[in-house]
Amino acid sequence: MVLPPPQRTTILTHSTTQTPLESRASGPLSGKVRVPGDKSISHRALILGALSVGETRISGLLEGEDVLNTAKSMQALGARVERTGPFAWKVAGVGVAGFAQPASPLDFGNSGTGCRLVMGAVAGCPISAVFDGDASLRSRPMRRILDPLELMGARAGESKEGGRLPLTLHGARDPVPILYRTPVASAQIKSAVLLAGLAAPGVTTVIEQEASRDHTELMLKHFGAEIVSTPEGSHGRKIALTGQPELHGAAVVVPADPSSAAFPIVAALVVEGSDVTFSDVMTNPLRTGLFTTLREMGASIEESEVRGDAGEPMATLRVRASKLRGVEVPPERAPSMIDEYLVLAVAASFAEGTTIMRGLQELRVKESDRLEATAAMLRVNGVRVEVAGDDLIVEGRGHVPGGGLVATHMDHRIAMSALVMGLAADKPVKVDDTAFIATSFPDFIPMMRSLGAEFS
Ligand code: S3P
Repeated sequence: MVLPPPQRTTILTHSTTQTPLESRASGPLSGKVRVPGDKSISHRALILGALSVGETRISGLLEGEDVLNTAKSMQALGARVERTGPFAWKVAGVGVAGFAQPASPLDFGNSGTGCRLVMGAVAGCPISAVFDGDASLRSRPMRRILDPLELMGARAGESKEGGRLPLTLHGARDPVPILYRTPVASAQIKSAVLLAGLAAPGVTTVIEQEASRDHTELMLKHFGAEIVSTPEGSHGRKIALTGQPELHGAAVVVPADPSSAAFPIVAALVVEGSDVTFSDVMTNPLRTGLFTTLREMGASIEESEVRGDAGEPMATLRVRASKLRGVEVPPERAPSMIDEYLVLAVAASFAEGTTIMRGLQELRVKESDRLEATAAMLRVNGVRVEVAGDDLIVEGRGHVPGGGLVATHMDHRIAMSALVMGLAADKPVKVDDTAFIATSFPDFIPMMRSLGAEFS
């Protein structure tokens, strides 16, 4: 496999050399950009390409560390993965249940999504694989994935409490289809069960009480699987996958990642006089809770050139600086903006009035405890904030004093949110380490600079 330079090597502990950076009040941001490809779709394109027969060509792949680790794991499991040009990749798959025993541990670095989805895909194959990651990933719960996979016949070897990494997963020789109700709204759990279900005879069914992102379902259909999704209850879904399909390699166009666009979008809203256009942003309704919320706060976000590819809608977004007001964000919106609360909290800090974000328990088990880390980021910059149970309450006063040093806790989204805050705060905002931004948005700093952001 030919990987794009530069590559950081495995990060199993806090890197000893941190890369701090400061952002400061900037003039109006302006220009037109395309943020990198969607991370969720990029992981899935590589994994489904590897489980298909024939060739998959992917354009617009996110070449961030998280996705590159998934590419390496697919290679280690027997698929041929090749970079054919900038953001263009080719995968020659091994077919459903065709993974080979990997010769060494699979290292997913910082990525929960890569690790958990590949666990699902491995669970349906008669092989054993060691899963590992960096200190952040080693601290995250894996039991939620292992529980359903064990019901399907896989077995997890000895691991730390909560199924934490590193661990060995022994795939099922004869996987059985199950009906599984996910205990939390999680696309990672749903996807792991569906990917294992590919190898099982009969129908594997997942029921979720709150619908989570449906990229796995859409892409499975695109690769030729029979999969039916129906509404369940008021906000849920029931997804039924017919096992043992022949998946055929397909072309995948990866749209721009709305979760990455979220950072420059909030920057454009809070830096006075800004006017920025974002092309090809994926607008799947199960991912756009942030845009809904920002519009409720008074944000000017105009959508044009709406189109779609393989079931994934996308659009051009024009964002202009706006006076924002505090709102209440309902808990049922959380799955559609689960990665965006940090940067929403930044927007809420610049708004007039109180913003209440409800039902954020899942934020505690992300790359860091994002509920506490978000509160700390705001507090150190002079914003009044409270964590009440699983709710986050931010008191917006129209401006942010700034001047704080923010601890990133190996979390890319904390680093980017804090840097966005500094672009409009009264005093500069410093982050202790920008290295983890490379997991999802390697060009964040140069792209922001090209729009007029000031960092030093
Ligand atoms: C993802 C699902 C979400 C999200 C993550 C990407 C995915 O996690 O936080 O960044 O691609 O399936 P959960 O499914 O655990 O909520």
